[in-house]
Amino acid sequence: MENYSILAYLISGIFFILALRGLSSPETARRGNIYGITGMIIAVITTLLLPGIESYGLIALGILVGGVIGTSIALKIEMTALPQLIAAFHSLVGLAAVMVAGAAFHNPSAYGIGDSGSIPIASLIEMSLGSSIGAITFSGSIIAFGKLQGVMSGNPITFKFQHFLNAVLGITLIFITVLFCLEQTQNLFWGLTLLAFIIGFLIIIPIGAADMPVVVSMLNSYSGWAACGIGFTLSNNLLIITGALVGSSGAILSYVMCKGMNRSFISVILGGFGGDDVSATASKEVEQRPVKSGDSNDAAFMMQNAESVIIVPGYGMAVAQAQHALKEMCDILKKKDVNVRYAIHPVAGRMPGHMNVLLAEANVPYDEVLELDEINRDFASTDVVFVIGANDITNPAAKTDPQSPIYGMPILEVENAKSVLFSKRSLGAGYAGVENELFFRDNTMMLFGDAKEMCESIINALGK
Ligand code: TAP
Repeated sequence: MENYSILAYLISGIFFILALRGLSSPETARRGNIYGITGMIIAVITTLLLPGIESYGLIALGILVGGVIGTSIALKIEMTALPQLIAAFHSLVGLAAVMVAGAAFHNPSAYGIGDSGSIPIASLIEMSLGSSIGAITFSGSIIAFGKLQGVMSGNPITFKFQHFLNAVLGITLIFITVLFCLEQTQNLFWGLTLLAFIIGFLIIIPIGAADMPVVVSMLNSYSGWAACGIGFTLSNNLLIITGALVGSSGAILSYVMCKGMNRSFISVILGGFGGDDVSATASKEVEQRPVKSGDSNDAAFMMQNAESVIIVPGYGMAVAQAQHALKEMCDILKKKDVNVRYAIHPVAGRMPGHMNVLLAEANVPYDEVLELDEINRDFASTDVVFVIGANDITNPAAKTDPQSPIYGMPILEVENAKSVLFSKRSLGAGYAGVENELFFRDNTMMLFGDAKEMCESIINALGK
């Protein structure tokens, strides 16, 4: 069976690689999911058939309890709350790594790594890596969850000598790990785990809520490396392959997100932007300035008389769940011979691919959905841009104001179009908490109200 299991694990590893490839585009994402599920079924069945399983009953109970909890959460969760759900789930991956490392340390013979007090050094290193990365992932993910869910303030929490303290704790962790590998005592194992829990907490609290999705992706990467370390402890090839896949894909995703925001990974880690205070100030300032506002009839008139319309969706579209009404609105416009396309910013919404997923859900054809690089030049030759629930990703301050926290982020240059319609509820700021100068421009018309209701009202005004 052992030989067959190596082959089966290899096959499921290949399915996981195909899954990642499939998930890289909305067109192939469903297929990617099926590959992932297939790989996981092969992995679970193979593991259950391995010799040495002591209690199928306990395993079945674990699958039942975990499966019921996971399914009920997945059925209830709102799309906009996915980032915090992912953070919460990652915390469990981290905790699992700590528990497996703890179990292996307390009963090494059950894991085939010698006896207590004489565990080989390689296994001790794997164990301490798995446990400390797992502990950092656990406490870091809990803080990320708290900030995204609003359980705690999204503002960066900073104090004097913070980086110095983190550096000292990091060096102490390395020191205790070396001692543990030499002495193999319980106190040192749990000491290094506790210290890693504290470090996870301390490195995430100074990061602002706006950078949290990058952090979640980074913690995802950590959880993969923790699983990889545990794979070595358990001599489980599949866990090593899967952990490395999760670890590297999470790291690449963090890099892509940082690039989309034009922020260096280091600057995100050392303290981000975005917080309630900034947002509140920005909103107060903008409320007092006059803007041009219109209603659904104005919007319908402008769009049906345009030759070309570009739709720019953002986080508010997700909140309002306006994608289906938006698609219906665009279909009517297309019937009236208006050229309609969608422009997607790489960090629109709150997670990578957020807008693509929502538009795919509403069956928007993929060839109408264009990335920033593909469409940015076309705004200048476009009659109307319909910005639906987006804000930061259109804000010219990212190009013009070096003091702005979003300075340097590439934006969709909607301001170059003849007219810009903004569908949002107020003049309130976006996630980065900064004022958007575009609201006050002559070629802008604000369409105040919920994005879904606005689309439905425009559909009525267009006449089906
Ligand atoms: P935001 O700048 O956050 O703006 C969203 C706007 O939606 C808000 O100004 C809000 O204005 C409006 N809104 C909320 N609910 C609405 C509703 N029911 N109907 C209509 N409008 C509604 O979003 P964005 O333009 O998509 O930019 C994304 C931001 O998230 C960027 O700052 C980006 O850096 C950050 N971020 C994203 C990611 C990823 S991976 N996507 C990762 C890290 C950070 P009102 O309150 O006035 O309605």
